[in-house]
Amino acid sequence: MNVDFYEKIWMWAAAGIIIVFLVSIGATFVGQAIQPPSHVEMIDPDNVRTDAEFGQPGVTIHEDGSATVVVQAFMFAFLPNEIRVPRGRPVTFRLTSPDVIHGFQIVQTNGNTMVVPGYVSQFTTTFSRAGEYLVVCNEYCGLGHHVMSAKLIVEEFPTSTEAGMGGGR
Ligand code: CUA
Repeated sequence: MNVDFYEKIWMWAAAGIIIVFLVSIGATFVGQAIQPPSHVEMIDPDNVRTDAEFGQPGVTIHEDGSATVVVQAFMFAFLPNEIRVPRGRPVTFRLTSPDVIHGFQIVQTNGNTMVVPGYVSQFTTTFSRAGEYLVVCNEYCGLGHHVMSAKLIVEEFPTSTEAGMGGGR
């Protein structure tokens, strides 16, 4: 088979570009420690609202200052709508949806996940800076998508919620 010289050059160039892409994807996986989810947990979307955990979403602060945040994402809000977590401690988010796919993005942080009905999305992160963060839905979920937001407040541990609790007997 006779392949024209210039055609050969472009074939090798195209192959080279593909190799560069594959190597850069591979390097990103290793360098940025990107990995597929290691945690797969399922839930019946019809039972989310009555579920023992997701039916009463909220923040639990543990003794060591770490926190677990249970969130229900639905058309078109997050429950709870205001989330208070401690600064500098691991915060584990657990989310699910009773209806359609939503997003949960904590703006200006690395906290970001899809929320898929039928599954529990979970991630753990630590916030190094105290302050107020906007949480938005970043998956188009219907007519009210643009109003679907919440507020995350990162504060020093013990949090004001914690300090207010158990003060009595
Ligand atoms: Cu929920 Cu967009």
